[in-house]
Amino acid sequence: MKISVIGTGYVGLIQAVGLAEFGFNVVGIDIDETKVKQLNKGKCPLYEEGLEELLKKHINKNLTFTTSYEPIKDSDVIFLCVGTPQDRDGNADLRFLFSAVEKIKETISKDDYKVIVIKSTVPVGTNRKVKELLSEYNVDVVSNPEFLREGIAVYDFFNPERIVLGFENLKNKKPIKIMESIYYCFKEKNIPFVITNWETAELIKYASNAFLATKLSFINELAKLSDKVGADIKTVSYAMGLDPRIGNKFLNAGIGYGGSCFPKDVKALIKQFENNNIDPILIKATDKVNEEQIKWFFEKIKNYYGDLNGKVFAVLGLAFKPNTDDLRESRAIKLIDILLEEGTIVKGFDYVKKARENTINMYKFDKTKAFYGYNLYILDDLYETVKDVDGIIITVEYDRFNKEDWEKIANLVKEKVIFDGRNILNVEKIKKLGFRYHGVGR
Ligand code: UDX
Repeated sequence: MKISVIGTGYVGLIQAVGLAEFGFNVVGIDIDETKVKQLNKGKCPLYEEGLEELLKKHINKNLTFTTSYEPIKDSDVIFLCVGTPQDRDGNADLRFLFSAVEKIKETISKDDYKVIVIKSTVPVGTNRKVKELLSEYNVDVVSNPEFLREGIAVYDFFNPERIVLGFENLKNKKPIKIMESIYYCFKEKNIPFVITNWETAELIKYASNAFLATKLSFINELAKLSDKVGADIKTVSYAMGLDPRIGNKFLNAGIGYGGSCFPKDVKALIKQFENNNIDPILIKATDKVNEEQIKWFFEKIKNYYGDLNGKVFAVLGLAFKPNTDDLRESRAIKLIDILLEEGTIVKGFDYVKKARENTINMYKFDKTKAFYGYNLYILDDLYETVKDVDGIIITVEYDRFNKEDWEKIANLVKEKVIFDGRNILNVEKIKKLGFRYHGVGR
């Protein structure tokens, strides 16, 4: 079976490389020429554990990349993995998706049978629209949402919790068989396959992300009360999680969720409700709590110091979560923006080199953020970062912070104060060294 994957961003690249590892002949298609060149040399344009090794293993064997749509002529299955960013109103912007569909139309012949699989996160109704656009062609359209977590996306690709497949007509067994043969090794491992209609498959993706986001906003909101009344949110989460109906995952309170999925998907789901004249009360609140959380945390910092002007802070963590270079909707960056606006000096650090580089580039080249080298500094060394600061702010949940030499850190800082935005530090150890510790809800 020959497969092409359109879009070599996060989702597409992992899909292409993963399918190559399964033994399929895969062509990845992307409009970005530089990226394609880089990929054909076995160089990964994004940081994801294990991805470059797999890319190197298959490149120029059963995996190639190109800017041309020609290879789709020979493909049995075409995966659409283009980005669906947020538009100004919060809707998913489907421009890239529809432009890829147009290119497919220009390239394939009307008689050749093809399965077109939509992996991009798309609002309910999109698969139906794509089929309409291709109504004159001999194609089946399949919805196959992804559930990859950044940082462990390669692991997630090979160890999915479920495979969701949405079809136009469940009586038409042809595309179902083709999709099952692509993912046959998951069948062998008894991973659940959810075979359903387009709309259900599309909604499963949004429902899963919005539910997880709601869990986070719930615990984050509770953390504010915990803070006021002297409860410990970590113990609350732990005890709640002992009830298997609640589960212990995704209950770590902090400064909110970020990333390329949760914020955008929650907003896009809200729009889908509104477009159907339903007021999504709960999901709107999830979004609002998340937006407010960082401001609440900042107020905590401000209340402690009174005047922030001229204060120097070490912000430990730049990306939206550990082990990634992805700054999209990063809470750390949001906090840095607020701190800079308040006239503070920020020294930022992240363990991931590319996260540091991306931060520098973002602040250097974005005119609205032209702070770099003036009152924002990104450093390559954690100890350099904490030197002479008025406070340390933890913004990403790296366990590694606990393995650092905190005695050394205590000697380097100007004032021994920590704002742990992820409740990740060993509080007893830190307090013994004379630090004043401020967590989230504890
Ligand atoms: C998420 C979903 O997990 C994944 O299934 C989907 O396909 C894409 O969106 P990802 O964006 O990689 O994946 O991030 P995830 O690991 O889920 O974390 C999202 C955010 O929530 C991060 O900012 C993280 O710091 C935060 N988080 C997570 C918490 O604040 N507390 C937690 O307990 C867990």
